[in-house]
Amino acid sequence: MSPLILDGKIASKALLDFLKPLVETLDPKLTVVQVGNDPASASYIKQKVKSCDSVGMRHEHRHLDENITIEELMEVIDGLNNDSDVTGFFVQLPLPAHLKSHEPDIIKAIDPMKDIDGFGAYNLGKVFLSKDFEHLPPATPSGIIRLLEHFDIEIAGKHAVVVGRSNTVGKPVAIMLLNRNATVTICHSKTADLAEQIKQADIVIAAVGKPKMITADMVKDGAVVVDVGIHRTDEGLSGDTDFEGLESKVSAISPVPGGVGPMTVASLIRNCVTAKERQMAIR
Ligand code: GUN
Repeated sequence: MSPLILDGKIASKALLDFLKPLVETLDPKLTVVQVGNDPASASYIKQKVKSCDSVGMRHEHRHLDENITIEELMEVIDGLNNDSDVTGFFVQLPLPAHLKSHEPDIIKAIDPMKDIDGFGAYNLGKVFLSKDFEHLPPATPSGIIRLLEHFDIEIAGKHAVVVGRSNTVGKPVAIMLLNRNATVTICHSKTADLAEQIKQADIVIAAVGKPKMITADMVKDGAVVVDVGIHRTDEGLSGDTDFEGLESKVSAISPVPGGVGPMTVASLIRNCVTAKERQMAIR
């Protein structure tokens, strides 16, 4: 039997349709900070701007020179923190090589109330408290949860295996699944017998960063698979899972492209709306 396709275009449209009237009422503004000319970043930013336009959200693109110093970048961040017209902003990653070691300081410098990526310690810490405190959760984990919810995939009581332990995806999505009463295993490059762990999963979250690494022999019959990876290969775009191989074995699977990607973008917009709501409640 063919699996349910967890189509992120459909689920993100539903989320954006829900957000549109809120955008109209609250009138938030998102600022995108790009340093240099990384081609993948340019493409991600284009998608984010397109989604802003689709809901009528104001946006601004600060495209900064590749050779900007850390002091100059910090000044830009300070200006955005203090600009009351800017609801939220993010600094697109990856940064040019000379700024890479400053990444933690850059994330720390963003006002937690405007941290649309939800990458800072304050917003990540709130994700750890409980579902009710997930105010500005990181966009990809939030998008994964929304994708599962949209297609009525039960999370409570299920065994979720998260493959990957990044601060931006693996760790926070594991906590968000735990907040929804899943039993969660986190696997990584040093996990002994990875296939044996994945085989236990009702829900597999593949965020490894290696093309087609998770194959049909590694998952149990009827599992739900969410693929977070996106890689340019000789055969075109591929995720972290072998989609064609898994199709005949799983009950549901997200495609690449068109799965988690659009959900991440819609979740960023949701965070901007939430940020505006919370800022207005405080003012
Ligand atoms: N680069 C790739 N994905 C992201 C993201 O979600 N946020 C930021 N800031 N940079 C990225």
